[in-house]
Amino acid sequence: MRIVLTHELDQAAELVATEILRQLDKKPKLVLGLATGSTPVGIYRKLAEAHQRGKADFSRVHTFNLDEYLDLPAGHERGYRYFMDEHLFQHINIPRENIHFPPSEGSDLERRCVEFEERILEVGGIDIQVLGIGSNGHIGFNEPMSSLCSRTRIKTLTDKTLTDNSRFYAEGEHQPELAVTMGIGTILDARKIVLQAFGAKKSEAIRATVEGPVSSSCPGSALQLHPATTLYLDPDSASQLRERKYYERAQQLQSKLRQEGRL
Ligand code: PGA
Repeated sequence: MRIVLTHELDQAAELVATEILRQLDKKPKLVLGLATGSTPVGIYRKLAEAHQRGKADFSRVHTFNLDEYLDLPAGHERGYRYFMDEHLFQHINIPRENIHFPPSEGSDLERRCVEFEERILEVGGIDIQVLGIGSNGHIGFNEPMSSLCSRTRIKTLTDKTLTDNSRFYAEGEHQPELAVTMGIGTILDARKIVLQAFGAKKSEAIRATVEGPVSSSCPGSALQLHPATTLYLDPDSASQLRERKYYERAQQLQSKLRQEGRL
């Protein structure tokens, strides 16, 4: 697990977007796993800007979103399809048919979850998975006590997640309690994972993710089992890490190797 401690608000988004664009340059058929929420918005803005400057071609890219609320009608403004259109898809040249979401309406959901996983494999597997983290340690909507081997399925949202996300809903507005999410096992199959966290509200989840035992009580801690995960943290989200000084030193030494062209 590589820890990158960032200092300016925009720095993490810049670093992640640059990494995605570098990979896209090498592999035009890049397969991206995407997240919603406030955390990844800066990355999407930078990808859209790169496209508008003629620097990024998404015409052969496939995307797979992590999760979606169950039974929000397509086009609903609280839905994650709507979010992704607003923040990314309508600003880049990705074909509609290359955009994939877990099934979140209709019937036969278990079979269609399996098909969603099969589709990921058919296009070669996810190259880079973008993640945020919940204040309870969830990744995607894998709430605490999710199986560390779980695959795409329906999850019941915890009270904590419902409270955290209630800011997006007007008083009295229906807030979905069920969602369909890639599993932790699905996420761990990605070749690279990039996770951003901002704000003191995430500091306990980040501490447990990085320094806690691997445990389903903090789903983020499963990332310790992944060979190529990088965490981009602002000072507040990193504030409870006991080994912060070590991560800073590691970051400096690694960036020296990079500057020397040795990595
Ligand atoms: P946020 O949500 O980016 O809105 O903080 C992250 C998450 O719940 O995974």
